[in-house]
Amino acid sequence: MQIREIRLKNVGRFTDLEIAFAPTEKHASKVTVFVGNNGAGKTTILKSLGTALSWFVARVKTEKGKGASIANEVIKNSAHTAAIYIQLNDVNHSKNSDYYWTLSHSRQGRATSIVSELANATELAGNYRYHWALVDENISLPLVAFYPVERSVLQIPLNVKKTNKNIDQLDGYENSLSGSVNFARFFEWFRDREDSENETGIPFEILTHLKNTFESDEKFVTELNRVQNASRDRQLSAVRSAISFFMPGFDNLRVQRMPSPHMAIDKNGETLNVAQLSQGEKSLMALVGDIARRLAIMNPALTNPLEGQGVVLIDEVDLHLHPKWQRQLIQQLTTTFPNCQFILTTHSPLVISDTKDVLCYVLDDGELEERNGLYGLDANQVLLSVMDTDIRNSEVQSRLDRLLESLQDKKLKEAKALFEELSTDLPPGHIELAKAALLIRKLELRSA
Ligand SMILES: Nc1ncnc2c1ncn2[C@@H]1O[C@H](COP(=O)(O)OP(=O)(O)OP(=O)(O)O)[C@@H](O)[C@H]1O
Ligand SMILES: [Mg+2]
Repeated sequence: MQIREIRLKNVGRFTDLEIAFAPTEKHASKVTVFVGNNGAGKTTILKSLGTALSWFVARVKTEKGKGASIANEVIKNSAHTAAIYIQLNDVNHSKNSDYYWTLSHSRQGRATSIVSELANATELAGNYRYHWALVDENISLPLVAFYPVERSVLQIPLNVKKTNKNIDQLDGYENSLSGSVNFARFFEWFRDREDSENETGIPFEILTHLKNTFESDEKFVTELNRVQNASRDRQLSAVRSAISFFMPGFDNLRVQRMPSPHMAIDKNGETLNVAQLSQGEKSLMALVGDIARRLAIMNPALTNPLEGQGVVLIDEVDLHLHPKWQRQLIQQLTTTFPNCQFILTTHSPLVISDTKDVLCYVLDDGELEERNGLYGLDANQVLLSVMDTDIRNSEVQSRLDRLLESLQDKKLKEAKALFEELSTDLPPGHIELAKAALLIRKLELRSA
């Protein structure tokens, strides 16, 4: 399932805005990214997508299910009726069709000029529900998830509870559009799966103990590894491998039973309680773990559940992340979850310059502009040309500009004075000063 287009009428700050999403003819990737100032409308777009998609999710669950309505405060202040039009494509059950639906909402007491039209949402959801209920109970369902900025407030449960709840594919939609990432749920699910994994295989602690004790016996260790891999739960393996891929050096996410059951992970060989991880580590793990867990639940028949389909919306995808992680983010998302469509927002120049074929939109004052050819640009160029931001302190920049002008005008004495002043204020090895020093030397040689 993929979103092709959305149109927002009188939603938030937008009067009438149409947006196409990747993949498009020009952009082969499944990634669309929005950048723009604070208040440009990025979150409004993602929330609108979430609102429209909630009708699909509700109607996969039950035939007459109700999704979210457009809230009163979302209707543009000068207008009486807001509407969201969405167009999706779905290739499934030997059908390749486009589906359209409209959701509208008017202020109280105002006549509705646009009516909601949700028949296609019912039909698309009905296809999945019908096949799930009557044809194949292991059918894959498409993931639909929205990760708002509030996801960063993470509660780490100190004790991992046992639920033994029977989980079916529909549980993959639980709270998937309505808010924060829930570590408690993630851990409970993990514990239940791990319990059944341990029942059929050898528990992790015992395996580690055996491997350490007999590490010199290569044949025995190889056999232990084989037994371990064969008995591993496919869904848990998917989650573990997604996390290890995103967070190199992190391995073996597991429930540790002593002193009380808690989540543990090895970081460069050292075992840590997940509660001890940094904010950035926790939030990346929560995000990746949540996507992977939902895909695992929704694709029980796939050998690699991470290859399941879906639509994932992430607001401020760079939240809390070190530049190195920001840079790799899209690449890692698309490699780990190859059949998911991603719609992202960011304030980071690094996120958008590292992957080819990403569809990037700049939002400015309610207008949308498509920006191409960002792949491989350095962060300064993206800041200057896409994010309309100075790359250095404006006072320093104007002094550097004056220095360059005096050099161009061959005013050696003035240039040298400016150079001296700047050299005392700026750190040694400043690249612009190094360039100026060369030009000064050249000018000195020429005038000699
Ligand atoms: N009902 C409304 N009518 C008119 N304008 C609105 C309405 N609701 C919100 N806005 C405008 O939309 C802006 C909020 O947009 P949004 O939250 O989508 O921005 P954003 O791009 O996500 O910003 P940030 O980067 O700060 O998260 C507000 O600044 C406000 O000016
Ligand atoms: Mg926002």
